[in-house]
Amino acid sequence: MNVEQEKGFFTEENSVEVVTSRNAAAKNERLKFAMEVITRKLHEAVKEIEPTQDEWFEAILFLTNTGHMCNEWRQEFILLSDVLGVSMLVDAINNRKPSGASESTVLGPFHVANAPELPMGANICLDHKGEDMVISGRILDTDGRPVADAVIDVWQANDEGFYDVQQKGIQPDFNLRGVFRTGADGRYWFRAVKPKFYPIPDDGPVGKMLRALGRHPYRPAHLHYIIKADGFESLTTHIFDPHDPYINSDAVFGVKESLLAEFRTVDDPARAKELGFSGWFWEVEHDFVLARQAA
Ligand SMILES: [Fe+2]
Repeated sequence: MNVEQEKGFFTEENSVEVVTSRNAAAKNERLKFAMEVITRKLHEAVKEIEPTQDEWFEAILFLTNTGHMCNEWRQEFILLSDVLGVSMLVDAINNRKPSGASESTVLGPFHVANAPELPMGANICLDHKGEDMVISGRILDTDGRPVADAVIDVWQANDEGFYDVQQKGIQPDFNLRGVFRTGADGRYWFRAVKPKFYPIPDDGPVGKMLRALGRHPYRPAHLHYIIKADGFESLTTHIFDPHDPYINSDAVFGVKESLLAEFRTVDDPARAKELGFSGWFWEVEHDFVLARQAA
């Protein structure tokens, strides 16, 4: 033990220095720095809150239950990070985009690798359940030029707010998912159905915490995108329906002003026929702007 680096016995006043000085010999400087900050902020919180022993045990039990809730299919700690706004904060710090580029938001837990690559215009709604929707736009660079060969990976919930992976055997596999590739004009379009808002899983300790805080578990209706193109930073984002009842209170704080798209209804029998729809339908147009990779 490196005796010179110790700062004496523990007291309420010098608690931070006593604990952090013990880490002086840590080989990983980044870890040492992170633990110094976390210890300082955590002690600060305890000193301000002054929890009773029972309250502190309740906090320990909450974290214990959060861990117990995790398995191969469920990650309750990610959910906790999401509802505390920490996932969005880490996303923001790691995706500072140049002005004019589309903003990112959380990936979420429902992305599936290797969704089928489809011809432009394909209908990704395989069970024809819900209100028809056509989505189109362009993939552009920050100078407004079209990006060719951009790969657009899209996925969304159905008209009841469920992803295919949540309803195995009810929805067809890869329902409401697809991968599209742009041509020289940078345009994309596909058909789907209007997604619905949905709750994050709220049958565990995080859901219980939300209820205790008077919060609901809902995310406003959205479509997920990952857009990749050579020479550009990949973009993980959503577009949202601005008229959704939860647009101003997303449980995971994923909404940004620039990600609001217009979902408008179209009553045009000729166009509906062209699109293979039977009546009125929703139309959404949204361009995405990719940031160039730093040289
Ligand atoms: Fe989602």
